[in-house]
Amino acid sequence: MPIAKTQDPRPNPQDLAPKTLLVTGGAGFIGSNFVRYVLREHPDWTVVNLDKLTYAGNLANLADIEATYGLDAFARNQEPSTKDQQPRYFFVHGDICDRELVDSLFTGSYFSSQHLTPSPQDLRPNSVVNFAAESHVDRSLLDASPFIETNIKGTQVLLDAARTYWLDSSSAKNQELRTNNRFIQISTDEVYGFLGEIGKFTEKSSLLPNSPYAASKAAADMLCRAYHKTYSLPIIITRSSNNYGPYQFPEKLIPLMIRNALNGKELPVYGKGLQVRDWLYVEDNCRAIDLVLQKGRAGEVYNIGGNCEKKNIDVVSLICEILKDLISKNQGPIPNTQDLRPNIQFIKDPRGAAHDFRYALDCSKIEEELGWEPTRDFEKGLEETIEWYLENQDWVESVITGEYQEYYEKVYGRE
Ligand code: NAD
Ligand code: DAU
Repeated sequence: MPIAKTQDPRPNPQDLAPKTLLVTGGAGFIGSNFVRYVLREHPDWTVVNLDKLTYAGNLANLADIEATYGLDAFARNQEPSTKDQQPRYFFVHGDICDRELVDSLFTGSYFSSQHLTPSPQDLRPNSVVNFAAESHVDRSLLDASPFIETNIKGTQVLLDAARTYWLDSSSAKNQELRTNNRFIQISTDEVYGFLGEIGKFTEKSSLLPNSPYAASKAAADMLCRAYHKTYSLPIIITRSSNNYGPYQFPEKLIPLMIRNALNGKELPVYGKGLQVRDWLYVEDNCRAIDLVLQKGRAGEVYNIGGNCEKKNIDVVSLICEILKDLISKNQGPIPNTQDLRPNIQFIKDPRGAAHDFRYALDCSKIEEELGWEPTRDFEKGLEETIEWYLENQDWVESVITGEYQEYYEKVYGRE
């Protein structure tokens, strides 16, 4: 068993430009925004998106990407003369826990039966960005099993495959597969647990997760750390605060409140709504992850926060104000509801003691090392997000199924 002897030296950014990414969970909220971001920002990169399409994953999130960069946008079996004449986005429907499938992506054999340009060899990943997860705290309180399976076991399967094909000399026959490797684990500030009224978590803070979701993410972080220490696998962990923006599934605070308000339903605020979250616009997070992928140091953790702490009740009130303004300005398709007076209901907190009161991140490490900072003003970002939801009510209703209604009933009572 190869044992790490030395820490990775500070990498040279030019040597670390990954060209073929295996993105997992790319049909979800942050993943789809990330795929869109990297294909736009890096014209010479290719993305293979492995997603199980759970209730939270939707191909509609990437319909524009498929149409622009996917296989069907290009004539098959022709010899393109330039990179921009060939597909750069490939969707694979599958589970990160499926070792055989994951292996076939690392060897390229998954694509070998198809006549493709680029060749199956060129689709073997030299970097992984692991977004795939069960991501909702409230669901983890109802049933932790899928969280343990995907968030822990799935991460271990990906780590093992990366180790096999990037590090083992018997498998990593081709030198080019063994360079520029990065395994980015997308983690969360929730692994740090409860924060009182003051202070911020740094990357050195203890991991004290309180919900089954947070515990499963912390376990995955520990596995990543162990694979770096034991095998020198070039992993990097990002821990971000609450993201918001387009394509977020309407079980999370902001899109749930927008949808309910548009449909004249109650706005269910847990407890007194005094919990504090640090809001980060999703594209700011994508830019941070992209920087970490190119220039971050292997074995390190980077906090990514929005520097924007808000009480839940203030966020919900602001959503109501912005919606009212937008509707009175008559922008976008107007919902089928006459009354937009906020119907805020304070409900018994379904999270109980698992409800972390406040999160806040010290992001000086990524700011100083990589020159990143959040750029989107919260009010502006929220307004743009609400406009997006107003214009995409069809998308919202299309991602909601009977499963959502059942879930909603369990947590909130009848829809
Ligand atoms: P999401 O729930 O919107 O999307 C998760 C995606 O993973 C879906 O497309 C789903 O189909 C896919 N998936 C689930 N299980 C899978 C499996 N076994 N194999 C393959 N694909 C699978 O999640 P999100 O909000 O986009 O979060 C993405 C990542 O970022 C997660 O790891 C989450 O823990 C982390 N994170 C999220 C936030 C946030 O505010 N949303 C903040 C910090 C960290
Ligand atoms: O902090 C990062 C985390 O942010 C991510 O790791 C998670 O994947 C992501 O879901 C998010 O977790 P939260 O639990 O903070 O997000 P959520 O949108 O579910 O809730 C935000 C806050 O709003 C939280 O304090 C609970 C409260 N809330 C939520 C819902 C859905 C309500 O008051 N009412 C609601 O209906």
